[in-house]
Amino acid sequence: MDSDDEIFKDDDNLFVSPELEEEDECYEGLVNPELIVNAQPQKKPIFHSYLIAKSIFVGDLIYSWYRNKRNKSILKKTIENGTRPDVGVSREKLVSRDDVVNCLNKILKPNEDQSFYHVICGEHGSGKTTLMKISSNNVKNGVIYVEIPSDTKDFGKAFGKALNFEFEEHISFTKQLIRKMGNTNNTFEEAKWKRALGAFKHVAKVYKAKHGVPPIIIYDNISQLAHKNPDILDILQDDAKNNADTRKYIAVFVSSEGMIPKRMECRSSWSRAEPVMEIGDLSKEESIKYLTDVRKVKEAERLYKIAGGLIVDLKFVADKSIAGLKYEDIKQIMLSKVKKKFESAKLLRNQSRHEIGKRVINVLLDSKEIDTDIFREFFKDNEFDDVLKENVFAYHPSRGIGGTVTFQSQSVVFYVQENAELYAKLIVSKKLQPPIKQIL
Ligand SMILES: Nc1ncnc2c1ncn2[C@@H]1O[C@H](COP(=O)(O)OP(=O)(O)OP(=O)(O)O)[C@@H](O)[C@H]1O
Ligand SMILES: [Mg+2]
Repeated sequence: MDSDDEIFKDDDNLFVSPELEEEDECYEGLVNPELIVNAQPQKKPIFHSYLIAKSIFVGDLIYSWYRNKRNKSILKKTIENGTRPDVGVSREKLVSRDDVVNCLNKILKPNEDQSFYHVICGEHGSGKTTLMKISSNNVKNGVIYVEIPSDTKDFGKAFGKALNFEFEEHISFTKQLIRKMGNTNNTFEEAKWKRALGAFKHVAKVYKAKHGVPPIIIYDNISQLAHKNPDILDILQDDAKNNADTRKYIAVFVSSEGMIPKRMECRSSWSRAEPVMEIGDLSKEESIKYLTDVRKVKEAERLYKIAGGLIVDLKFVADKSIAGLKYEDIKQIMLSKVKKKFESAKLLRNQSRHEIGKRVINVLLDSKEIDTDIFREFFKDNEFDDVLKENVFAYHPSRGIGGTVTFQSQSVVFYVQENAELYAKLIVSKKLQPPIKQIL
């Protein structure tokens, strides 16, 4: 018996079900010697039935025991080795972001006394997922990466997949069969994420005992949960707080919207969160390097003026350029993409927020970054959240006191520049500038 098994011995309750114990009692009853001694010859067929039933139970017990043991061992191995998610970008197409990756590596290697969980945010397409996956692969051991799917109903499935968890805890073969045949309301399925979390916590204890440091669980894409199942996010946050307190595991929440950490901040479990880390744009130097060295495109400087340092936009213009599109065509495609964001935010001419939006745009052209209190003077109450979620402006929870607001990306600034007669009338002589970029 190895040392891990010793640890499991005490609390095998996750894997050896109470049902199995009940079945043990049934099994005892079946082999009661009195029953055998007092058995009458005419009851032989009944005795045979007992023997058959006994064999089924014994077989089922052995099968369940074997599955539990096997699943337990797979889980342990998964946490030991880490999820090691596929980065999805080949090495030669990657622009290295060593500073950010080094910060993330440190987060994913907690010390034994780490008692705070982490929240990371950044605009859509700023490269968070790619960076988290790179860092998970760097650190490897003890790092579980879960990407919350766009259909949050599949969260449990995704969680289980990240852990290689089979969802067979507490279930003997017979029970599974009954469940499969009889369960129509699906409530059992809905709790999958809770069961995966329970299994993770169980094995986290083993990992901590063996290595002296807590394992990490990364929840990427929490915006999905925040919008569709906020109660699940709340439970994950509370659990992250409790387990940071007891140093059992450290959670890392990754969000594409600054407003999600803001929501998390309002809860009491925020007291165990590290300050929010923000992943921003590539610097101009990194962006030009990406366009010229990595993607080998011409006109890197001009394309950078359209895309700025948001990696998803840089990739977009590089892809189009490599596909043979001319600069003017790429520019038009990019402008129409941004126009759609303005339309959703109701900022276009003749739309309801055009006039007020114009005033904010001019303040931002002047200051590049403004306090949220100033932004709230233009967009009050629900308007504040509604406008921010359309990706024309970006909220930065980690900056200033209580956060700041900038333009969402250089492509937005470029759109305003191209439509200066509509949006920039209030600024006469000021040169239009891109927004302030990342802090990292
Ligand atoms: N360092 C990088 N080098 C090259 N391409 C990258 C890099 N980082 C990200 N990308 C590419 O940019 C795009 C956006 O990246 P990614 O999905 O990581 O962003 P994200 O911030 O997670 O986006 P979202 O907020 O929408 O989830 C992807 O196509 C990805 O392959
Ligand atoms: Mg992502």
